[in-house]
Amino acid sequence: MNNLKRKIKKNPEPRLRYPLRKSISLVGLMGSGKTTIGVRLARRLNMKFVDSDHEIELAASHTVSEIFEKFGEEDFRKGERRVIKRLITQESKIVLGTGGGAFMDPKTRGRLKRHTIVIWLKVDVDLLVERTSKRDTRPLLQKGNPRKILQKLTEERYPVYKEAHIVIESGQGPHDKVVNDIIWKLNKYLAIEKKKYQKRMARKKAMMKRNAEKKGEKENADNNS
Ligand code: S3P
Repeated sequence: MNNLKRKIKKNPEPRLRYPLRKSISLVGLMGSGKTTIGVRLARRLNMKFVDSDHEIELAASHTVSEIFEKFGEEDFRKGERRVIKRLITQESKIVLGTGGGAFMDPKTRGRLKRHTIVIWLKVDVDLLVERTSKRDTRPLLQKGNPRKILQKLTEERYPVYKEAHIVIESGQGPHDKVVNDIIWKLNKYLAIEKKKYQKRMARKKAMMKRNAEKKGEKENADNNS
Protein backbone atom coordinates (compact mmCIF):
# COMPACT_ATOMS: atom_id res chain seq x y z
CA MET A 1 0.00 0.00 0.00
CA ASN A 2 1.50 3.37 -0.92
CA ASN A 3 1.66 6.33 1.46
CA LEU A 4 -1.34 8.14 0.01
CA LYS A 5 -3.58 5.05 0.20
CA ARG A 6 -2.44 4.40 3.78
CA LYS A 7 -3.26 7.99 4.75
CA ILE A 8 -6.67 7.84 3.08
CA LYS A 9 -7.48 4.61 4.92
CA LYS A 10 -6.43 6.12 8.24
CA ASN A 11 -8.23 9.39 7.74
CA PRO A 12 -11.01 9.19 5.17
CA GLU A 13 -11.98 12.85 5.58
CA PRO A 14 -8.81 14.84 5.11
CA ARG A 15 -8.66 18.44 6.25
CA LEU A 16 -6.81 21.31 4.72
CA ARG A 17 -3.57 21.68 6.67
CA TYR A 18 -2.51 25.09 5.37
CA PRO A 19 -4.26 28.47 5.23
CA LEU A 20 -5.62 29.33 1.80
CA ARG A 21 -4.38 32.69 0.58
CA LYS A 22 -6.05 32.38 -2.79
CA SER A 23 -9.40 31.40 -4.23
CA ILE A 24 -9.78 28.02 -5.88
CA SER A 25 -11.00 27.66 -9.45
CA LEU A 26 -12.25 24.52 -11.12
CA VAL A 27 -11.71 24.07 -14.84
CA GLY A 28 -12.64 21.27 -17.20
CA LEU A 29 -15.02 20.30 -19.94
CA MET A 30 -18.80 20.49 -19.80
CA GLY A 31 -20.03 17.66 -17.61
CA SER A 32 -16.78 17.26 -15.70
CA GLY A 33 -18.56 18.07 -12.43
CA LYS A 34 -17.25 21.57 -11.73
CA THR A 35 -20.49 22.66 -10.07
CA THR A 36 -21.33 19.38 -8.30
CA ILE A 37 -17.82 18.98 -6.94
CA GLY A 38 -17.32 22.71 -6.41
CA VAL A 39 -20.37 23.00 -4.14
CA ARG A 40 -19.17 20.08 -2.02
CA LEU A 41 -15.58 21.28 -1.91
CA ALA A 42 -16.70 24.75 -0.83
CA ARG A 43 -18.81 23.25 1.94
CA ARG A 44 -15.85 21.22 3.21
CA LEU A 45 -13.55 24.23 3.15
CA ASN A 46 -16.14 26.57 4.63
CA MET A 47 -16.03 28.79 1.59
CA LYS A 48 -18.60 30.20 -0.79
CA PHE A 49 -19.16 28.50 -4.14
CA VAL A 50 -19.71 30.74 -7.15
CA ASP A 51 -20.53 29.54 -10.65
CA SER A 52 -19.23 31.86 -13.37
CA ASP A 53 -21.99 30.94 -15.86
CA HIS A 54 -24.61 31.77 -13.25
CA GLU A 55 -22.95 35.14 -12.57
CA ILE A 56 -22.87 35.90 -16.30
CA GLU A 57 -26.57 35.07 -16.53
CA LEU A 58 -27.31 37.40 -13.60
CA ALA A 59 -25.26 40.23 -15.09
CA ALA A 60 -26.81 39.84 -18.55
CA SER A 61 -30.35 38.95 -17.43
CA HIS A 62 -30.24 36.16 -20.04
CA THR A 63 -29.44 32.48 -19.90
CA VAL A 64 -26.18 31.25 -21.44
CA SER A 65 -28.18 29.78 -24.36
CA GLU A 66 -29.94 33.11 -24.93
CA ILE A 67 -26.65 35.02 -24.90
CA PHE A 68 -25.19 32.63 -27.50
CA GLU A 69 -28.32 32.88 -29.61
CA LYS A 70 -28.92 36.64 -29.40
CA PHE A 71 -25.40 38.05 -29.20
CA GLY A 72 -23.10 35.24 -30.28
CA GLU A 73 -20.27 33.34 -28.62
CA GLU A 74 -17.83 36.25 -28.86
CA ASP A 75 -20.03 38.46 -26.67
CA PHE A 76 -20.48 35.61 -24.23
CA ARG A 77 -16.68 35.25 -23.99
CA LYS A 78 -16.28 38.99 -23.33
CA GLY A 79 -18.82 38.80 -20.51
CA GLU A 80 -17.14 35.68 -19.17
CA ARG A 81 -13.75 37.43 -19.11
CA ARG A 82 -15.20 40.45 -17.25
CA VAL A 83 -17.16 38.42 -14.73
CA ILE A 84 -14.29 36.06 -13.88
CA LYS A 85 -11.92 39.00 -13.44
CA ARG A 86 -14.35 40.60 -10.98
CA LEU A 87 -14.87 37.37 -9.05
CA ILE A 88 -11.23 36.46 -8.58
CA THR A 89 -9.88 39.91 -7.79
CA GLN A 90 -12.41 40.63 -5.04
CA GLU A 91 -11.38 40.47 -1.40
CA SER A 92 -13.17 37.30 -0.30
CA LYS A 93 -11.84 33.87 -1.22
CA ILE A 94 -14.23 31.62 -3.12
CA VAL A 95 -14.44 28.28 -4.87
CA LEU A 96 -15.16 29.22 -8.48
CA GLY A 97 -16.71 26.88 -11.00
CA THR A 98 -15.79 28.17 -14.47
CA GLY A 99 -17.48 27.49 -17.79
CA GLY A 100 -15.61 24.92 -19.87
CA GLY A 101 -14.23 27.48 -22.33
CA ALA A 102 -13.10 30.10 -19.80
CA PHE A 103 -9.59 28.72 -19.28
CA MET A 104 -9.02 28.74 -23.06
CA ASP A 105 -9.02 32.54 -23.11
CA PRO A 106 -5.38 33.61 -22.61
CA LYS A 107 -6.25 36.64 -20.43
CA THR A 108 -8.62 34.70 -18.20
CA ARG A 109 -6.17 31.80 -18.03
CA GLY A 110 -3.38 34.13 -16.91
CA ARG A 111 -5.62 35.73 -14.29
CA LEU A 112 -6.88 32.39 -12.99
CA LYS A 113 -3.32 31.09 -12.69
CA ARG A 114 -2.18 34.23 -10.85
CA HIS A 115 -5.11 34.78 -8.52
CA THR A 116 -6.38 31.26 -7.85
CA ILE A 117 -5.27 27.69 -7.39
CA VAL A 118 -6.50 26.10 -10.60
CA ILE A 119 -7.84 22.55 -10.41
CA TRP A 120 -8.61 20.62 -13.58
CA LEU A 121 -11.28 17.96 -13.28
CA LYS A 122 -10.25 15.48 -15.94
CA VAL A 123 -12.99 13.10 -17.00
CA ASP A 124 -13.15 10.69 -19.94
CA VAL A 125 -15.37 11.39 -22.91
CA ASP A 126 -17.87 8.56 -22.26
CA LEU A 127 -18.75 10.03 -18.90
CA LEU A 128 -18.92 13.57 -20.30
CA VAL A 129 -21.35 12.39 -22.98
CA GLU A 130 -23.49 10.60 -20.42
CA ARG A 131 -23.63 13.56 -18.04
CA THR A 132 -24.21 16.27 -20.61
CA SER A 133 -27.01 14.32 -22.29
CA LYS A 134 -29.24 15.04 -19.29
CA ARG A 135 -29.62 18.75 -20.08
CA ASP A 136 -29.93 20.79 -23.27
CA THR A 137 -28.62 24.05 -21.80
CA ARG A 138 -25.23 23.90 -23.52
CA PRO A 139 -25.30 25.69 -26.86
CA LEU A 140 -22.00 24.21 -28.06
CA LEU A 141 -23.46 20.70 -27.85
CA GLN A 142 -26.56 21.60 -29.84
CA LYS A 143 -24.53 22.07 -33.02
CA GLY A 144 -24.07 18.41 -33.95
CA ASN A 145 -23.20 15.04 -32.48
CA PRO A 146 -22.33 15.71 -28.80
CA ARG A 147 -19.80 12.85 -28.62
CA LYS A 148 -17.91 14.13 -31.65
CA ILE A 149 -18.00 17.69 -30.32
CA LEU A 150 -16.78 16.65 -26.89
CA GLN A 151 -14.05 14.47 -28.43
CA LYS A 152 -12.85 17.42 -30.51
CA LEU A 153 -12.94 19.70 -27.48
CA THR A 154 -10.79 17.25 -25.48
CA GLU A 155 -8.20 17.38 -28.28
CA GLU A 156 -8.23 21.19 -28.37
CA ARG A 157 -8.52 21.89 -24.69
CA TYR A 158 -6.71 19.15 -22.75
CA PRO A 159 -3.25 20.46 -23.71
CA VAL A 160 -4.30 23.83 -22.25
CA TYR A 161 -6.16 22.52 -19.19
CA LYS A 162 -2.84 20.79 -18.38
CA GLU A 163 -1.55 24.16 -17.24
CA ALA A 164 -3.74 23.85 -14.12
CA HIS A 165 -1.86 23.70 -10.81
CA ILE A 166 -3.61 20.47 -9.81
CA VAL A 167 -5.07 17.71 -11.97
CA ILE A 168 -7.77 15.44 -10.59
CA GLU A 169 -8.74 12.38 -12.58
CA SER A 170 -12.35 12.06 -11.58
CA GLY A 171 -14.51 9.22 -12.79
CA GLN A 172 -17.72 7.49 -11.82
CA GLY A 173 -16.85 7.25 -8.10
CA PRO A 174 -18.62 9.05 -5.25
CA HIS A 175 -18.35 12.85 -5.18
CA ASP A 176 -16.90 12.77 -1.67
CA LYS A 177 -13.98 10.72 -2.93
CA VAL A 178 -13.21 13.37 -5.54
CA VAL A 179 -13.41 16.07 -2.86
CA ASN A 180 -11.04 14.06 -0.65
CA ASP A 181 -8.60 13.66 -3.55
CA ILE A 182 -8.71 17.41 -4.11
CA ILE A 183 -7.96 18.14 -0.46
CA TRP A 184 -5.04 15.66 -0.43
CA LYS A 185 -3.60 17.24 -3.53
CA LEU A 186 -4.21 20.75 -2.21
CA ASN A 187 -2.25 19.88 0.94
CA LYS A 188 0.60 18.58 -1.18
CA TYR A 189 0.52 21.63 -3.44
CA LEU A 190 0.37 24.08 -0.51
CA ALA A 191 3.25 22.31 1.27
CA ILE A 192 5.44 22.73 -1.83
CA GLU A 193 4.36 26.37 -2.23
CA LYS A 194 5.22 27.03 1.42
CA LYS A 195 8.72 25.57 0.95
CA LYS A 196 9.23 27.65 -2.19
CA TYR A 197 8.10 30.78 -0.30
CA GLN A 198 10.45 30.04 2.61
CA LYS A 199 13.37 29.56 0.19
CA ARG A 200 12.54 32.84 -1.56
CA MET A 201 12.40 34.65 1.78
CA ALA A 202 15.71 33.13 2.93
CA ARG A 203 17.36 34.23 -0.33
CA LYS A 204 15.93 37.74 0.04
CA LYS A 205 17.14 37.98 3.64
CA ALA A 206 20.62 36.80 2.68
CA MET A 207 20.74 39.33 -0.15
CA MET A 208 19.66 42.16 2.17
CA LYS A 209 22.33 41.13 4.67
CA ARG A 210 25.00 41.09 1.95
CA ASN A 211 23.91 44.53 0.72
CA ALA A 212 23.98 45.95 4.27
CA GLU A 213 27.47 44.52 4.79
CA LYS A 214 28.69 46.00 1.50
CA LYS A 215 27.20 49.38 2.42
CA GLY A 216 28.91 49.21 5.83
CA GLU A 217 32.26 48.34 4.22
CA LYS A 218 31.91 51.24 1.77
CA GLU A 219 31.03 53.70 4.54
CA ASN A 220 34.05 52.52 6.55
CA ALA A 221 36.29 52.93 3.53
CA ASP A 222 34.89 56.46 2.89
CA ASN A 223 35.37 57.45 6.54
CA ASN A 224 38.96 56.22 6.50
CA SER A 225 39.93 58.01 3.28
C1 S3P B 1 -18.93 26.17 -22.47
C2 S3P B 1 -19.28 25.56 -21.29
C3 S3P B 1 -20.47 25.92 -20.52
C4 S3P B 1 -20.86 27.36 -20.80
C5 S3P B 1 -21.01 27.60 -22.26
C6 S3P B 1 -19.72 27.30 -23.03
C7 S3P B 1 -17.70 25.75 -23.18
O1 S3P B 1 -20.22 25.76 -19.12
O2 S3P B 1 -19.94 28.25 -20.25
O3 S3P B 1 -22.05 26.81 -22.72
O4 S3P B 1 -17.19 26.50 -24.02
O5 S3P B 1 -17.19 24.65 -22.87
P1 S3P B 1 -20.08 24.32 -18.39
O6 S3P B 1 -18.69 23.84 -18.64
O7 S3P B 1 -20.28 24.66 -16.95
O8 S3P B 1 -21.13 23.46 -18.94
